Amino acid sequence: MMPTALILAAGRGTRMRSALPKVLHPICGQGMLGWVLDAARGAGLSPVVVVGHEAERVRASLPPGTPSPLQAETLGTGHAVLCAAEALPREGVIVVLAGDTPLLRAETLRRLLSGHGDAACTVLTGLIPEADAVSSAYGRLVRDVDGVAQRIVEAAEASPDERRIREFNSGVYCFDAAWLVNEVLPTLQPHPPKGEFYLTDAVEAAARLGRLRAVLHDGDNDELAGVNDRAALAWAEGRLRARINTAWMLAGVTMTDPATTYIHHDVRLGEDVTLGPNVTLAAGTQVAVGATIGASCVLEACVVGPGVEVLPFTHAVGANIGAKSRVGPYARLREGTVLGEGVHVGNFVETKKATLHPGAKANHLTYLGDVEVGAKANIGAGTITCNYDGYAKHRTTIGAGAFIGSNSALVAPISIGAGALVAAGSTVVKDVPDDALALARGPQVNHPGRAKELRAHLAGKAGKTP
Ligand code: UD1
Ligand code: MG
Repeated sequence: MMPTALILAAGRGTRMRSALPKVLHPICGQGMLGWVLDAARGAGLSPVVVVGHEAERVRASLPPGTPSPLQAETLGTGHAVLCAAEALPREGVIVVLAGDTPLLRAETLRRLLSGHGDAACTVLTGLIPEADAVSSAYGRLVRDVDGVAQRIVEAAEASPDERRIREFNSGVYCFDAAWLVNEVLPTLQPHPPKGEFYLTDAVEAAARLGRLRAVLHDGDNDELAGVNDRAALAWAEGRLRARINTAWMLAGVTMTDPATTYIHHDVRLGEDVTLGPNVTLAAGTQVAVGATIGASCVLEACVVGPGVEVLPFTHAVGANIGAKSRVGPYARLREGTVLGEGVHVGNFVETKKATLHPGAKANHLTYLGDVEVGAKANIGAGTITCNYDGYAKHRTTIGAGAFIGSNSALVAPISIGAGALVAAGSTVVKDVPDDALALARGPQVNHPGRAKELRAHLAGKAGKTP
């Protein structure tokens, strides 16, 4: 049977000073709890999440079908497990984790499980750095003179000698499920003065039976860190970012400056992708082989094809960019943008619900909304699709090979035929047939010498020489 991961996530997280529940604070694009769930699933565990503070909000963040028992009153870690008893198996192993340890690795859980054997409890411990030895708030692991683990003492209740113990309780445990649920949970007693139920009492119960294993974590100590405030949140984000970036560099991605490269948890990158400094690739983004994302671009939920060049300062959300296209600098692609192969979208061009077929170009200063642009059409500088009349949005279609002159306004709904030519400065309100020339601007009139006369007149009025 798949072992269960019981994730405790009912606490309020007071020190975050936030309306958002602590475990939902995002790190590299997903809430802390999401990272813990990933680690649990990566270790082959089936998660159960205890919720309490802002229970519905935390539940809404869980993958559908995840059991999420309620701890209505947060009366301690032991009480949290008690509240989950109905959702726990009666055989096999239960791993207990906290929802605020986003750096914990699946590999660490796998190792802990594989050494658990027939112990009643395996507790994962770490070492407090020398400098924090006395001040640390972690519960300490007390061993007897022979070094056999006996119990956990909470920092607040520890004697001065116990406070000097550097081995701490990480809050990650494996339990024999039947023993925990049937024999330990019913015996937990509240601890004065706060009346909290401590899960650590189960550790002591296992020691009394000679069935406690305490395993000192022999990897990166960061993994065990709990995040309690925003300073720790930023620190954890930095650690995870470094982990993500290193993995992508080893997978063949070039980063000019990994320290300022922000890649969210579910982003996918191909080999020979190059990322400039200060790039953010947010959740749901995929970048195919050989594409380059220039400095200070922000891409979210985008699919970027092979060989694409996204030039600096481009912002794109929900866009699909076809192979070998060139976007930016300073382009803004909004949701529903679909660029075919070899499309050019240049500086200060905004697109929304816009499909540009292969080879189409909109190189400068343009708004393309609710529009379909045919293959190889050329959209001149300053072209605006007037898609909104104040009440509803309307569509524009531009045929293949059409040429839209600069500073044209296309008043939707409207259709410009294939191969049509719209003269610069036109305000187009009627459909243009294929291969037609549309001229929709005032005819030009030249008055010879009139500029000079006008200057003389104006200068005279102002008492100046022309
Ligand atoms: C607990 C351990 C301590 C250990 C530390 C590791 C106990 C009594 N102490 O301390 O030995 O060193 O973790 O970080 O277990 N939670 C609930 N319901 C509650 C209380 C807590 O779901 O009623 C959840 C919290 O949301 C959090 C986790 O349990 O995710 C740990 O709770 P926290 O209060 O941070 O643990 P400590 O008391 O500091
Ligand atoms: Mg506490």
